[in-house]
Amino acid sequence: MSLPRTVAEIREAYLSFFEERGHTRLASDSLIPSNDPTLLFTGAGMNQFKNEFLGQGRTDITRATTAQKCLRVPDLDNVGVTPRHHTFFEMLGNFSFGDYFKDETIPWEWEFFTSVLGFDAERMVVTVFNDDDQAWKIWHDVVGLPSARIYRLDEAENFWPSSAPSQGPNGPCGPCSEIYFDQNPGEKMPANAGLSELPGRFLEVGNFVFTQFDRQSDGSLPALPQKNIDVGLGLERIAAVLQNAPNNFETDLFAPTLDALQSLSGKSYGQNNEADIQMRRIADHCRAVYFCISDGAAPAREGRGYVVRKILRRAVRDGIALGLNNTFLADLLPAVQATMGQAYPQLHEHQNTIESMCQAEEERFRDVYKRGITRLDEAVGNCQKAGETTFPASVAFELHDTWGFPVDITEVVVKDHKLQFDQAGFNQAMEEQRDRARSGSEMKGDVFAESLPGKLSTAGISQSEFKGYANSESPAQLLAILRDKNLVDQAVCGEQLEVVLDTTCFYATGGGQIGDSGEFFNADGNSIFSVKETHKEGDFIFHCGVANIDFKVNELISAKVNFTQRLATERHHTGTHLLHAALKKILGEHVTQAGSSVDATRLRFDYTNPNAPNGEQLAEIEKLVNAQVIAANLVSTKNCALDEAKAEGVTALFGEKYGDTVRVVSVADFSAELCGGTHVKNTGQIGLFRIISDRALSAGVRRLEAVAGEAAMKLASKDRSLISELAAQLKTPAAGLTDKIDNLRQQLKEAKQASRSDAPDIKELVESLNVLPGSDLAWSYLPGVDARTLAMLTDKLKQQPEVPKVCLLIGGDAKSVPYVILCADNSGLKAGDLAKLFGRQVGGGGGGRADFAQGKGKKGSDLESAVANFHQELSSNT
Ligand code: SER
Repeated sequence: MSLPRTVAEIREAYLSFFEERGHTRLASDSLIPSNDPTLLFTGAGMNQFKNEFLGQGRTDITRATTAQKCLRVPDLDNVGVTPRHHTFFEMLGNFSFGDYFKDETIPWEWEFFTSVLGFDAERMVVTVFNDDDQAWKIWHDVVGLPSARIYRLDEAENFWPSSAPSQGPNGPCGPCSEIYFDQNPGEKMPANAGLSELPGRFLEVGNFVFTQFDRQSDGSLPALPQKNIDVGLGLERIAAVLQNAPNNFETDLFAPTLDALQSLSGKSYGQNNEADIQMRRIADHCRAVYFCISDGAAPAREGRGYVVRKILRRAVRDGIALGLNNTFLADLLPAVQATMGQAYPQLHEHQNTIESMCQAEEERFRDVYKRGITRLDEAVGNCQKAGETTFPASVAFELHDTWGFPVDITEVVVKDHKLQFDQAGFNQAMEEQRDRARSGSEMKGDVFAESLPGKLSTAGISQSEFKGYANSESPAQLLAILRDKNLVDQAVCGEQLEVVLDTTCFYATGGGQIGDSGEFFNADGNSIFSVKETHKEGDFIFHCGVANIDFKVNELISAKVNFTQRLATERHHTGTHLLHAALKKILGEHVTQAGSSVDATRLRFDYTNPNAPNGEQLAEIEKLVNAQVIAANLVSTKNCALDEAKAEGVTALFGEKYGDTVRVVSVADFSAELCGGTHVKNTGQIGLFRIISDRALSAGVRRLEAVAGEAAMKLASKDRSLISELAAQLKTPAAGLTDKIDNLRQQLKEAKQASRSDAPDIKELVESLNVLPGSDLAWSYLPGVDARTLAMLTDKLKQQPEVPKVCLLIGGDAKSVPYVILCADNSGLKAGDLAKLFGRQVGGGGGGRADFAQGKGKKGSDLESAVANFHQELSSNT
């Protein structure tokens, strides 16, 4: 048989090699670590086996092998520049949980490299931890490596986690042995003395960790209860060696992506160093983004999403630099699917989501980028104005980090403007940022500190069995009482506690469904504990609540779920499945669940769709769901193999990790989903389903809220009260409401027109002006006209020829007298002063500019005299 060469062949060869040696082949964990909230992303194959190393996890297997999707970001700036760095990469791993140890693993790894892959044994070099004579001996005596090719290095290189003995983290750790490939075999071998690491000529292709210690806070290294093996090999690096490629990107894995980039950009790879780096970076970053999105880590402003957005933006930025003027990121997906789609079908299953999110993000970033250029120009301008000679490093860093703006462009622009670029300041800001990223993406200090499930396992407490699919009440034994996360023997009345039972019918929060509340009763039928919420950690179900009387551990009790609340929640949960199916039927199969939250009061469903559904579509979706409700279909569940469920086209959820056996929840041939939640027995129990709202959540993702059962009925009766109230106020039967409202609107419109037509025609107005003899003052009373119309008329009046120099227009009635005054420039008078003067005559006041003023009075019964007095005062004042 020919030796494995392609990435797919190497992956398969490795997994089968270890399967043949008693390992269970397990699926890669999600990039979002499934059981380790302290990690931002999965960064090593061992992350998913943290509990197994501590002797607290699953006990059915002691040997496992995986190809693990990993994401590491601290070296982001090296990606594409060096031959080996990646953000996303695959780690091949074999693991022993208290089973085999160094004697087995070292010869196996050697056999895999040299016999299965055909690595040249003469070019292999290994390292061991300083005093690990046992590992040294195995390499030397069993494998047969000459001592000149076995190096002893210290804890920075040959301990995992690196430097754990002196610097932590606490928890499982151990010495390791690394295997390297010599890329320049002709050169002299370096001496070991004084060597802190092997020179770059040696390429690390594997790390074998002998996880046997449990580091404590005081730095001591007591032995773990069991010895473990954690092996990690770099798949991309191995492929590069086997394919004789100068860097990881020139392997079969990235060839289709580089090809696609060449045809999109019209540039050939290998002609220009800068363009090559850009192409390699795009090839790395697009792959990382596709995998993150398909594992449920969508680009966002914070946390994981922030990292994804940053990677995505860097790829787009490189695309722009490469001359790609149109969006391109989504177009590279087929190239990645071609090499990785078979091993990771998620790339096909979530194709629509990946494409629409990439497209929306890229469009948005291209705008941001344009603005970044503007920000840079502005900052350069400020610098010059202030007479500075150096461009501030903080702005260069802000542009780079927040705006995703390329620092090399910042540097060129800055220098073009005869300013200095503060490279040292920028580097320092980058270093600080890297430290922040490192602490966010690698293990934190106490990641291995004993978890709550660990504590319970150590105390010999068995895992909780969930029996709540069929029952809402069951007898149980009280296995553990926890006060502030510490095990206690007795609960005291009034205390807030967590309680673990041997079996429970309380559903623990998960899969979008809220956990149950309820009561525990003792043998006398008294309530001893009120459960406020239920959640799960590891395989234990924790009931959180308040003790109603004193009780002891091991007591036998009866646990009773608040069934009204459970049923209301189930209506929303089954309603969510029906809604999901209806959305796909009305909007299209591309609709994918992006989040779900179900409780007794409402359901919230996030889904991907590029546009807002219109009112008709929403009504149609609601109608489809209600058709299932009134059809009173049975809700059936079955457990089956994941592959079988997928073959039947069951909807698997986005970013969710499933075990080998899954539970399928179906409603007739309308809906079938993988789901561990609880559901109504029959869709008729939902009673009624109503959509409340649908709005955009982020680019390409929408949030729909709906209610079912009693909550929907309450909404219906609230609507009815509102309609009755409107009908009463408008004095019409409810059925006549729309006609009545149409009528009222029509009346309003006519009234508005009529009030407008009360205003005299401008010609009539000019004619109606009473000019006071021997003066430049003219006035007119326009009964019923309001202040706004008066102002509008003065505007028109100004434009008329031969208008008297001072015009006073009075509107309103006997009790309310709005007025305006218009003064021509050559009148020598100020309208504001005149408005005050006239105000006194009508019991009010006014003011304004020199050419126009207005006011209001309360006495309009004798306007003739008011105007005459005004005129007289005016004459005597001027
Ligand atoms: N955990 C080790 C590493 O990440 C080996 O799998 O290198």
